[in-house]
Amino acid sequence: MVDLSGQYQEIKVQVNSAITQILETSAFINGPEVHAFQKELETYLGVKHVIPCANGTDALQIAMMGLGLKPGDEVITADFTFAATVEVIALLQLTPVLVDVYPDTFNINIEAIEKAITPNTKAIVPVHLFGQCANMDAILALAEKHNLYVIEDNAQAIGAKYLSKNGKKSMAGSMGQVGATSFFPSKNLGCYGDGGAIFTNDDELAHIIRGIVNHGMYERYHHDVVGVNSRLDSIQAAVLRTKLPKLDGYCEARRNSARAYSKAFKNQEHIVTPVTVNNCDGICDVCDCHVFHQYTLKITNGKRDALVKYLNENEIPCGVYYPIPLHKQKAYVDKRYKEEDFPVTNQLVKEVISLPMHTELDEEQINHITKMVIEFVNG
Ligand SMILES: Cc1ncc(COP(=O)(O)O)c(C=O)c1O
Repeated sequence: MVDLSGQYQEIKVQVNSAITQILETSAFINGPEVHAFQKELETYLGVKHVIPCANGTDALQIAMMGLGLKPGDEVITADFTFAATVEVIALLQLTPVLVDVYPDTFNINIEAIEKAITPNTKAIVPVHLFGQCANMDAILALAEKHNLYVIEDNAQAIGAKYLSKNGKKSMAGSMGQVGATSFFPSKNLGCYGDGGAIFTNDDELAHIIRGIVNHGMYERYHHDVVGVNSRLDSIQAAVLRTKLPKLDGYCEARRNSARAYSKAFKNQEHIVTPVTVNNCDGICDVCDCHVFHQYTLKITNGKRDALVKYLNENEIPCGVYYPIPLHKQKAYVDKRYKEEDFPVTNQLVKEVISLPMHTELDEEQINHITKMVIEFVNG
């Protein structure tokens, strides 16, 4: 699905030298590389504060801790996402409220959020799934109306942009009270291990979060709040510093691959290609909103599972993100959920398939993959 080794070859000299320098200085934790990366990411995202941490799951958890969410507070998020989003809500003994998504963008459904809001609702967690922002205009308006926090799960969409109705373009993760991202190796901005970060424009929240990531310490050995140990190490920061200036180029390479895929699948009766919103109706040449963390098709003639098997047999990697709705996962099953509230997610889990998507995909590979998919789906 990804070609991390091909990408590494392109930046090998810089990465190796940055890592060697850290080995020489032994500043493994909270070294200058971490602070430099933090500043560079703040500039890139246009946010006041970036707080690096150990991974994207921690970033979400720490964001919720920082906002002071308490057991029993209801947090609304999408049924169709990676489990980390709901996992941290449950871990903090908050009440997850899963809602359906849209069939075209795969992102959280605004009417479903509105329907789910109760007096106990404290936050909405939109997940910018597969690299495209959820409808933030509507989410921010709902949050304002009902006095709710917005925590953006930006694990899959770093570098994506959102064009608001008022014409303002914002970076994904920078619009809510707080954003959380992951630097897992396969992410658009991935390190060579685990890593994550929290973003906010709120000075007070940033201060609280800086303490939480470091055992709740604001002064050495004074533990004012219950915290965690969640740090980005210097080696990962050095890798990320090498890659950050290339992120826009990486995202453009992904968009180019997405354009080539969608062109090849055009007019295929049983294959639905991904839809981009905000800046264009389809995948256009200037659109920079979607960063295609995944390129996800819908196979509408019931052959999705057989296609997965066929591609695997023919050594073409593919993935099903996600095969089971969260409301049906054993850990998150709850009497509150009714099947009729999740028609889209229940259908998507049967139809979606993600194709290889990375910065090193070439025309020959795309031609081969699309030919195999089209032949099989129509066969
Ligand atoms: C939507 C979403 N949220 C959160 C995470 C968690 O990130 P991490 O694996 O860095 O903990 C992921 C990781 O895949 C993700 O896709």
